Order: sequence, then structure tokens, then C-alpha cells
Amino acid sequence: MLQAAAKTLSVATTTSVSRGILLNIRSYCKKTPATLRVSEAVSGAELGANVKVQGWVRSVRAQKSHLFLHVNDGSSLQSLQVVASSELSYPLLTFGSAVEVTGTLKKSPNQKQPVELEAEQIHIVGECNPLEFPFKIKERHSLEYIRQFPHLRCRTNAFSSLLRIRSEATTAVHSYFKENGFLQIHTPVITSNDCEGAGELFKIEPSGRDYEEEEHFFSVPAFLTVSGQLHLELMSGAFSKVYTFGPTFRAENSQSRRHLAEFYMVEAEVSFAQSLEDLTKVMEGMFRSATEHVLAHCAEDVDLFHKHVTPGHREIVEAMLKNRFPTITYSEAINILNRSSENFAFPTDWGCDLQTEHEKYLVKHCGNIPVFVTDYPYDLKPFYARDNQDHPEHTAAAVDLLVPGVGELCGGSLREERLDLLRARLQQAGLEDTYRWYLDLRRFGSVPHGGFGMGFERYLLCILGVDNIKDVIPFPRFSHSCVL
Ligand code: 4AD
Repeated sequence: MLQAAAKTLSVATTTSVSRGILLNIRSYCKKTPATLRVSEAVSGAELGANVKVQGWVRSVRAQKSHLFLHVNDGSSLQSLQVVASSELSYPLLTFGSAVEVTGTLKKSPNQKQPVELEAEQIHIVGECNPLEFPFKIKERHSLEYIRQFPHLRCRTNAFSSLLRIRSEATTAVHSYFKENGFLQIHTPVITSNDCEGAGELFKIEPSGRDYEEEEHFFSVPAFLTVSGQLHLELMSGAFSKVYTFGPTFRAENSQSRRHLAEFYMVEAEVSFAQSLEDLTKVMEGMFRSATEHVLAHCAEDVDLFHKHVTPGHREIVEAMLKNRFPTITYSEAINILNRSSENFAFPTDWGCDLQTEHEKYLVKHCGNIPVFVTDYPYDLKPFYARDNQDHPEHTAAAVDLLVPGVGELCGGSLREERLDLLRARLQQAGLEDTYRWYLDLRRFGSVPHGGFGMGFERYLLCILGVDNIKDVIPFPRFSHSCVL
């Protein structure tokens, strides 16, 4: 940098100092200009102002008399065009370098880019060797390619758009619950329960010590949570409507495109729920409201996906929003699968768990829009699911929401609120002691209630049309991979 500064000084002193153009030198004499985000600068609200913009160079083009840069700071998909004298064309001003540009915001003759920054000073804050930088100027890299660089992929258009969408969708989910009277609960990450009973748990122990069974740090075996549901149920017994939105962990040894070892789950619990419809209303309402919010607040970022990454997906999203989500029972789903001419890899007999291939088929069959499947075989569902005693087949009041391109997006159920039935099921599973506190919830002011969980990454796959779950989370963790 010292060398660069020295070079710069000589450029500045031997060229047009009269025009006040200095490269890589901060001028402390002038009043410090306001620092603007690129999104603010391109909005046009500050035309004529002397401002400073900080960001990373997305393109460099040197013409005879002028130098054109595009600078992006992650505040929007758009970059700010910087126009400078070609005397500022400098070898270290490369694609990927970090810069601080001071100048005046002007109306641009370019229709596509109505505002530009006429540079008075360009300070190279961090150099970037374009030969070694894995992303190349003007190239549209595939999601597979950029996935190889988890520490740098946020510098690409596609992944920065994804992260802005993810952030906005998070806001939208919180807004939906706030507007609908739900209280947010921070459920614990460390827990002693296996809510889903599937044994897909990561155990937690202090490192560096050989713990004997009886010497657990928490005095009982502890795990990373697979679901905040049981903690939410407890809170729904006082606040009626609660939700949580946080990291969730599953030790599934899966390399599939829709499973992660660490993912984010939105979970809600509703007291006094009388039927599954009381839950499907919330699932559908949240889906619609979050999606409409994202389409309205991240239009450019979503367009990048719908135009360049997953062309044709926009129409699918519009169809999802236009139509009400139909509901079919599990038994109807099995009939549909058995009537189809598709060659499924997995069996479709009544009692079988629905596999992704089945779920995707059902979605297509229902018009390629989200579809609720209700009343699953009792034995397929965890201990907390409510027994549908009045059904001819033994089913539980459980519901999954299946969506285009993904399959299962949400899983939920009414919870068994009847003490005798719940106790019998826990006894059968040998879990009565473990869940004594859970049984207490049924002893003291028990009410019919239910809830659901939505995989947040799967939601993003669904609205963007992206195929691989690793492309919609900042730092993917899955079996055999925990980079960074
Ligand atoms: O169907 P699941 O296992 O339901 C529960 O955990 C309930 N206790 C939730 C509740 O009722 N509060 O998981 C809910 C959703 C799934 O539908 C799926 O979208 C997502 O979480 N999910 C995963 N997403 C990414 N990677 C994984 N390994 C996932 N496992 C589940």
C-alpha cells in the first residue's frame, strides 16, 4: 500500500491537480462529505450532493478520456456508476478491489442508470488480484461454481441477492406473527428432549474432558434442538399464540438437496385450536404474506433469480399466490398415487411414509400449487400427535404442506391434549418419566392446541425455484461438511 500511495502521489502531482482529482489520497482540508450507501445514492434523492461511497468494484472500463467504475456495497443489487478522469485509471483499481470514492452525484445521460458519481477522489482501500480472485468480471457464474467459495460467494450478484431476500423474508415472517397476535419466544438451542423421537440428535458435551455417563455437564444428556415445539407448547399454555424462529439441528446422514444438519425453522403453536383448519389458515397466511412482502420489497433481487437463475419460476409463484391451497387427506393422496402411471421408486401402500417423489407428484396433480395433506397414519407420527379416534382408519390429526419443486415445506399437527391418551402413548414408548413435565401441561389447564414448523430454507427454495438447499443459507452445514 505504501508503494501504491507513493505512485499515486506522483500521478496526482504530475497530472491535473487543477481539476482537483486525486487518486488514493484523502483530503482532510475539505468538509467531510456524508457517507451514502449505494442504494441511497442511486435513488436520486441526493442529486448534487458531495458524498462519499464505499464498496467493492464490480466493473472497470477505461476509455480515452474517462474511467467508468461500478461500485457495489451490498445495499442493493444495483451498483453505482462512478465516472472519473482517465488519469485515474490505475492498475490497482481492479474488479473486486475495495474503494472509497468521493465526488458529486449527478444525473446520468444513461437511461438505465439515472444517477452517477462524478469522482473527485478514489481511495483504494483493499487491493484484489483479479487473476487470483475466483470470480471473473462480466461472467455469470453458476450457483454450483460459487458454492465452492463459501467465504467469498457473498461478493457475487446472485448470492448477495439471495441474502437480501433471506433477510427480508425473515422480517416478513416476524411481521406476520406480530400482526396476528403471536408472541415470539426464544426457545433453547440446548435441550434434553428429542421432540421428533427420530434420534437424529447432536449430543453436547464440553470438549477436552472424558465425561462418564453420570457426570454430564447438564446432569442429563443434552442435545442441539431438533424442534422448539415442546417448549412452545408450554408457552402456548399461557400466551395462547406463540412462535419461534431459530436454528434447528438434525443429525441426518443425508446428502439430499433439501436437507441440512443446521437449518432455520419457523414454528408456531396455537391454543384453543379446534381443527387442522385453524393451523392451515396460519400456514397459508404466513406463506402468502411473507411471499407478497418479499416480491414487493426485493423485486430486483427476486427478478435476478426468476430471470437468470430459474427462468419461468415467476409464473409458478404467481399461480401459488392466486389460488387457495387445496387440502386432501393422506388416504386420498395414496389413492391418487396408486392411480397414477408413474413408476415410483418407493411403495405407495396405505401406511407408507410419503417420499419426496410422491410429494412432488401430488403437488403437480393438484395444479402445481401448494397442497395440504392431512390425517396421516397414526403410527407414522410422533407421540405428541392427536389421535383421530373417530376415523375408520387409525390416523393422527397431522398436516403437511407440500409445495412445488420441494415437496414437504411444513409439518404440523393438533397435539394430544387428553391426559389419559397421551400418558398411554408415552408409556408404550417408555417415555413417561422423561416427559413428566409435558404430561403436567395436560394436568393443569390443558386445552386443545396445535402447531407446525416450516423449514425456512425450503421456503426460499420454493419461492426462488432454486434446486439445492446449500444455495439458500449463508453457511451450509451437512454431513461431511462444516467449512468455515
Ligand atoms: O416435519 P418436521 O420434522 O416437524 C417438526 O419438527 C415439528 N416438531 C414442527 C412443529 O410442529 N413445531 O420439520 C418441520 C419442517 C419440515 O417440513 C421441513 O421443511 C423442515 O422443517 N426440515 C428441514 N429442513 C432442512 N433440513 C432438514 N434436515 C430438515 N428437517 C426438517
